[in-house]
Amino acid sequence: MSVAAAPPLLHAQGAACGKVILVGEHAVVHGCPALAAPLRAVNATVRVLPVAGPLQIETDQAGVDTQGLAQVAHATLARCGREAGGLTLRIQSNIPPQAGLGSSAATAIAVVRAVAAACDIALPPDALVELADIGEQAAHGRASGVDVAACLAEGAVRFVRGEPSVPVPLKSPVWLIVGDSGTPRNTRNAVAAVSGQPDPLRTRAFDVIAEATSQLELALREGNLDSAGAALNLAHTALSSLGVSTPALNALCQAATHAGALGAKLTGAGCGGCVVALSADEAGAQRVQTALRKAGAVTTFAERLTP
Ligand code: MEV
Repeated sequence: MSVAAAPPLLHAQGAACGKVILVGEHAVVHGCPALAAPLRAVNATVRVLPVAGPLQIETDQAGVDTQGLAQVAHATLARCGREAGGLTLRIQSNIPPQAGLGSSAATAIAVVRAVAAACDIALPPDALVELADIGEQAAHGRASGVDVAACLAEGAVRFVRGEPSVPVPLKSPVWLIVGDSGTPRNTRNAVAAVSGQPDPLRTRAFDVIAEATSQLELALREGNLDSAGAALNLAHTALSSLGVSTPALNALCQAATHAGALGAKLTGAGCGGCVVALSADEAGAQRVQTALRKAGAVTTFAERLTP
């Protein structure tokens, strides 16, 4: 019996936005819950150009893990019943790389979406997560999966490693303000450094982070924004005790708080990258953005997290 040849790959594209970890980074790698949200102000787009020959990846961003993305693309092709190769992936992204805003997760999701679209296949959501996670494991070594979950979320979600994320309904909207210290950092190294911290320091810090996570979830559900801000401050103290804050990140958190933020903390792996602060309204968010820039942030974003 002759087997019909697969139809040619299509010109296609896929995209995904960035993410912010509200609370729970590092502890989430070790099984604690985290709260995270999509950051729609930034995104990655991947275009598929069907061309003969081995897979090629083109990007003008430094520090992109093209090997990990190639694994994602090949796994997606296999999942769609296709042979390896036969396409070029062109990546365009305005997500600052190595800043803790989900650049690698968003790019991996965009690759899966683009390649599946080129094969004219609609993948189920769990397959999308599973395939994008291949890139995260390649990039971060011990990724919890929270970054992929947050990039794919509609709003704030609670995430526990190995489980589907659960939406966290907000009683009232809140503004997220992100400030980038401009110092790139490496998630793999930061995760390894935290994992290597001695006990009881590490366990105590994770306990405090878990407490901050519960406090923030309750505060968001009840619309208690002062308590939400306090939860961020508490988490920042615990992350500092794990050695992943820096003088620049501490200065940005202080500047945000002095400008009236409800609370502020580093976000992502730390050792550089970004801080996230909360504000109750847009005018407050603008004041915090201005203060962050004056304190040295190279880029800032403000986004309303909706209920
Ligand atoms: C990185 O955005 C968050 C970390 O907790 C690592 C992970 O969960 O994979 C530091």
